[in-house]
Amino acid sequence: MGRIAYVNGRFARHAEAVVHIEDRGYQFADAVYEVWALFDGRLSDPEGHFVRLERSLSELRIAMPMSRAALTMVLRETVRRNRIREGLVYLQVSRGVAPRDHAFPNPAVPPAVVITVSRVDREATEARAARGVSVVTTPENRWGRCDIKTVGLLPNALAKQTARAAGAVEAWYVDDLGLVTEGASSNAWIVDADGVLRTRDTNANILRGVTRLSLLDLAREAGLTVEERPFTPDEACAAKEAFITGAGSLVLPVIAVDGRPVGDGSPGPVAQRLRRLYIERAKATAI
Ligand code: PDD
Repeated sequence: MGRIAYVNGRFARHAEAVVHIEDRGYQFADAVYEVWALFDGRLSDPEGHFVRLERSLSELRIAMPMSRAALTMVLRETVRRNRIREGLVYLQVSRGVAPRDHAFPNPAVPPAVVITVSRVDREATEARAARGVSVVTTPENRWGRCDIKTVGLLPNALAKQTARAAGAVEAWYVDDLGLVTEGASSNAWIVDADGVLRTRDTNANILRGVTRLSLLDLAREAGLTVEERPFTPDEACAAKEAFITGAGSLVLPVIAVDGRPVGDGSPGPVAQRLRRLYIERAKATAI
């Protein structure tokens, strides 16, 4: 059975699913999105993603397309129809379809909703986590509202391509002060030379990662010293460990930055333990 997409109230075969050419998501990146990890057919970190979705929409003055309960039902039904147990669920909500004009349509039009589900090979991703991945650094060049999860991801796509071309998995943005902000599609962390778990604070222009937030809780519960404090690429190389977090990467050890090894150049115990703890918690709380 092939993949199924949800598009504006209808389920369609993925290969045939289409949106209107004047969808404002397509023309202006006037749309927000969320990505849930799917464990055993259930959505992980549901609350965190819904809270952030509602915040992103409200910052852009786009109406929630339906209630949280209704959206949960539609998301779960899309998952069910795809018969995918381990994967990712993608939700996009745009301001809707209207004749091209930069200002918002007046009167407002209904938001346009797309949901897709894709499979993840957990064996392959576990093997990758066991090996660790490399990152490269790239100058921060994004707009000032990276806290809103919009589909305006061209800088992120370019940064990711730079990483790919260098044989790395992720690109870390570095701001004018020489500090890492976050990855192109993940948050960045280190276990510094003093054993302190560090990730950038959310006063900076970064996405408030849902995985990041859950992991801060888990790390504190596990008795680790945690600081929301930025770090430089040099500090990352001098650190004991580094890793990235996100719905796709979960908790993924970083073993090199710009070709320089982090710690002893292999995945560290803290990242590996946090990955286990995160996956356990995500499975236990998924809906
Ligand atoms: N990316 N920072 C950026 C820029 C991101 O795009 C993401 C997620 C994260 C991590 O957020 P979370 O833990 O809520 O997934 C941080 C998703 C997975 C994507 O674009 O596919």
